[in-house]
Amino acid sequence: MSSYSQLFAQHIETLQRRTRDILQQQGLSGLAIHAGQTHRIFLDDQDYPFKVNPHFKAWLPVLDNPHCWLLVDGVSKPVLLFYRPVDFWHKVADLPNAFWVDFFDICFLTKPEQVADHLPADKQTWAYLGGHLEIAGLLGLTQPNPEAVLNYLHYHRAYKTDYELECLREANRLGVRGHIAAKESFMAGASEFEVNLTYMKAVGQGANEAPYGNIVAINRNAAILHYTQLSHQRVADIDRHSFLIDAGVDFHGYASDITRTWAWRRGEFADLITAMDEQQQAIIDEIKPGRRYTELHQQMHHRLARLLQSVELVDMSVDEMIGTGVTNVFFPHGLGHFLGLQVHDAGGFMQDERGTHLSAPEQFPYLRCTRVMEPGQVFTIEPGLYFIDSLLEPLQGSEQGKRVNWQKVDALRPFGGIRIEDNIVLHSHGVENLTRQAGL
Ligand code: GLY
Ligand code: MN
Ligand code: MN
Repeated sequence: MSSYSQLFAQHIETLQRRTRDILQQQGLSGLAIHAGQTHRIFLDDQDYPFKVNPHFKAWLPVLDNPHCWLLVDGVSKPVLLFYRPVDFWHKVADLPNAFWVDFFDICFLTKPEQVADHLPADKQTWAYLGGHLEIAGLLGLTQPNPEAVLNYLHYHRAYKTDYELECLREANRLGVRGHIAAKESFMAGASEFEVNLTYMKAVGQGANEAPYGNIVAINRNAAILHYTQLSHQRVADIDRHSFLIDAGVDFHGYASDITRTWAWRRGEFADLITAMDEQQQAIIDEIKPGRRYTELHQQMHHRLARLLQSVELVDMSVDEMIGTGVTNVFFPHGLGHFLGLQVHDAGGFMQDERGTHLSAPEQFPYLRCTRVMEPGQVFTIEPGLYFIDSLLEPLQGSEQGKRVNWQKVDALRPFGGIRIEDNIVLHSHGVENLTRQAGL
């Protein structure tokens, strides 16, 4: 067996163990996991791009084939119902022939409804996991998405298997290749649209396969947190200031989520990027098993407040700057989130396997992770510093606004903002930075 197959064998064993455990807890017999089906566009004869159920791709890297199912009970060899219709209009999935095939008993469906012939006799005690409740109902699967099952699986999904870590490493290696190509493209004068093409070519992945919509932002567009337009406009050298790219790659169903910011020329903004990069690495150095992610986020606000002081953007004590929400104006989003099968992976607020929810502190509503950091978890660390007009405006009119250096803010607005985002594995012996070790 190759080492890859060994990793996959351990991965399947872990999923089997988790399945046994939750089925026993809930008095269920099995899980019928539906890959999903395509969604038709209203009044059209085309479908939206297919996105597979994450609970399905947790078991195997089949991402592009709707109407497949997994029947798992945690004991028997998992059954894969693999959809291969007779269809001369569309590409039919190839016969499975990859490292994972030996881990499944594979049956073929030529029509979606044939799944009914494969469901067990005691299907009332099987849970349906998937996004099509009407299908579950038609099939007599009367327990769709039980909350206790989802909570359990989402909680434990935070602890990645070695196979998953290898997938995330590869997603970072590929992503870094794209980021380097994208930077060169920006430096050569390309438009956002052209930079994005360069990125996609370098990683060998199109928009529908990417784990999220690429953010490719020149100048002020870097201040729009989820900017996914792609301008065709080439910006003259004299008007080029900055470039922010937030783009990942999917590898076997696992996402990378990487951001870098580049300055077109030396100067104040370039220095600010360097300072943020130092702060980002310093906060990563603070990660330790047993610390709560929330605390790390708060620590980052301290670091940012000191930075805003030192570059003379804000003249206020650290505590006052944080307490009055001034740091939130410059850094309005969370420090990061879990990463894995989904970019914003499940389980970030769960305090135990029953799904006990701990919300983000009121002061930081956009934080996506409040969990204690433990070995095996993978998360992003992505501090930012932005000049966002709609957030700066109320600050300017407020009491705190008097302590802000508006001349400096105005000089920096054309640069949009900075975000630096790495993907991190926490091990018992320390932190592994998937993004930096891949060469970015
Ligand atoms: N790319 C989305 C995020 O960084 O969370
Ligand atoms: Mn990102
Ligand atoms: Mn992210």
